[in-house]
Amino acid sequence: MEILFGQNRLTTLADETVLQALTRQGIAARSSCRGGVCQTCVMRCLKGDIPARSQSGLNAELLAKRYFMPCVCQPTGDMELAEPDADDFFVTALLEKRVEDEAGILFLFEPMSALATPVTELIVLDDQGRRARYLLANKPELDYYFGIYLPSTDLSPLACDWRDSLQAGGQIKMRTALANELPVAEMPVRAERPKDPPPDPELWTVLDNGVLLRKILEEFYVRVYADPQLKSFFTGFTQERLVEKQYSFLQQVITGNKVYFGNRPLKTHHWMVISDALLDHREQIMLDCIHEHGVEEKWVKRWMALEEYYRPDIVKSEPFPLQNNGVDIPLEGFEDLVIDVGSMCDGCGSVIEPGESVRYHVRMGTIFCTRCNTAESL
Ligand code: HEM
Ligand code: FES
Repeated sequence: MEILFGQNRLTTLADETVLQALTRQGIAARSSCRGGVCQTCVMRCLKGDIPARSQSGLNAELLAKRYFMPCVCQPTGDMELAEPDADDFFVTALLEKRVEDEAGILFLFEPMSALATPVTELIVLDDQGRRARYLLANKPELDYYFGIYLPSTDLSPLACDWRDSLQAGGQIKMRTALANELPVAEMPVRAERPKDPPPDPELWTVLDNGVLLRKILEEFYVRVYADPQLKSFFTGFTQERLVEKQYSFLQQVITGNKVYFGNRPLKTHHWMVISDALLDHREQIMLDCIHEHGVEEKWVKRWMALEEYYRPDIVKSEPFPLQNNGVDIPLEGFEDLVIDVGSMCDGCGSVIEPGESVRYHVRMGTIFCTRCNTAESL
């Protein structure tokens, strides 16, 4: 099939997704899960059919505007695509409550339809066309609503107007800030806390000094690798590697002995957009496996408490780049390389001879030969 995207004319190979076709032909398109879960990759289809599977989970407004997820879209005909238009993401929101104190006012809104994920920064638009950008300021006990906090020090015209006249029942429009509107995220700085939770050596004994842990992890990763929401994150990593790494990581956490060699959870998952709900889903699979292996509830709780410690390092709504000698490694960038050992093209599968030039995706480590780059500039 042929894909028109900006100034590029591209082609897709059999069974290839739009995202794979873009990447193979050197377009640094944003993505994370590559499985239709996180919505990081959304694009607009200007012309052509959109396979239904690639729209699953998008809200009604986005469907009406022909948005889709290229990572799970195998085109059934030619397509013309465009980058997302941020203003397509506005939805009407009703002001439910104002919660006032001396320092400011928390406005609690209820959006009339689902906002596109991820929700971290809100762009608001009032009836006079004024825009402002606020961090989501929810209180955990009120998390049904979307909160915007206006401190008394905010003297912008929009803030002053809202303070004086925006009352419960009033409406504004809001949307999430899109990935391309946010500055490139940096590795988050976490509040000081010990690297790992206190070890729990008794749990190690209950896990039969690791024998039972390994059995549970083997079963867990069989399920993760078959799970529609999780499996795409694991493309390119073998199941054996995951069992091995997770085993030694957990052995270190549970016993306190230094046996794990590898990245810490914050760095390992740097490119993965993982919501709380997705982490809960993974945890449920883990819980099922642990229960099926007959571990008593008391120990299940103690195991889960250890895993929970890493939640703040793993849940995030934007990926952040790792650094090499102080320089960001682009999340979606390419380098041109000449390889000195034979290999196989990750795009078309053809053999690449030593000495050939390839395009290398710096985060994913995939390589593409010059033959399957059929991109043409219009
Ligand atoms: C939805 C949740 C999660 C997803 C989608 C996920 C995904 C992944 C993926 C794709 C890898 C392979 C990447 C690599 O090795 O470079 C990985 C590795 C790993 N994950 Fe997770 N993970 C999740 C939750 C967790 C949790 C809760 C923990 C710890 C409590 C954890 C600990 C690790 C460790 C230790 C590795 C091995 C790191 C290494 O190879 O250097 N993950 N994860
Ligand atoms: S939905 Fe496409 S990358 Fe996650």
